[in-house]
Amino acid sequence: MRLAPVTEENHRAVIGLELHEDQRTFVASNLKSIADARVHRPKLEPPALHSGAEPVGFTLLERDEPGVPHIPRFMIDRRAQGRGLGRAGLAAIAARARAEGRSELVLSVVPGNAVARGLYAAFGFTETGEVDGGEPVARHRLAPSAHLVGDQ
Ligand SMILES: CC(C)(COP(=O)(O)OP(=O)(O)OC[C@H]1O[C@@H](n2cnc3c(N)ncnc32)[C@H](O)[C@@H]1OP(=O)(O)O)[C@@H](O)C(=O)NCCC(=O)NCCS
Repeated sequence: MRLAPVTEENHRAVIGLELHEDQRTFVASNLKSIADARVHRPKLEPPALHSGAEPVGFTLLERDEPGVPHIPRFMIDRRAQGRGLGRAGLAAIAARARAEGRSELVLSVVPGNAVARGLYAAFGFTETGEVDGGEPVARHRLAPSAHLVGDQ
C-alpha cells in the first residue's frame, strides 16, 4: 500500500470509491475532501491509497499542530474492506510521517464507529480523553524508523 497523489490519471477512480450506506456519516466524500485540500493547501494533503496500480482508499492529512500530522479523513472502498488494507493504509501514513521526522499521529473518530475505533486501537492509537467536535481524540506515538518493524 502506498500514498499516491491525486492526479489526472486516478482522480475519477478516487472520487468513485464508495462506502457502505451505513458508513456514509463517518467521513465526508472524497470529492469534498479533494476540494477542501485545494482550498487549504498546503496545510491539507489528499493522498489516494494505492494497492498495486489502483486506488482502494483515500485519506486527508493535515499539518496543523507542529510536528503532529492529523488524519481528518480515512477510508477504504467498500469492495476492498476487511482484507487488511485499512491497517496497511495506516502503516503507509505512519511510514511517511516517520520519514518526515514526525513523532506522533493524531485523529478523532465518530463515537459510534466501532470498526474504525477497533482498527485504530489495534494499530496502536490510544484515546486520550480529549474530544474534538464531539469526537474522541486518539494519538499514536511513532517509533523512529530504524527501530520499527512490522508496520509495512
Ligand atoms: C475503517 C476502515 C477504513 C477499515 O478498513 P478495512 O480495510 O476494512 O480494515 P482492515 O481490513 O484492515 O480491518 C481492520 C479491522 O477491522 C475489522 N473489520 C473490518 N470490517 C469490519 C466490519 N464490517 N465489521 C467488523 N469488523 C470489521 C477487521 O476484522 C480488522 O480487525 P482485526 O485486525 O482485529 O481483524 C473502513 O471500514 C472504512 O473505510 N470505513 C468507513 C470510513 C470510516 O469510518 N473511516 C474512518 C473515519 S475516522
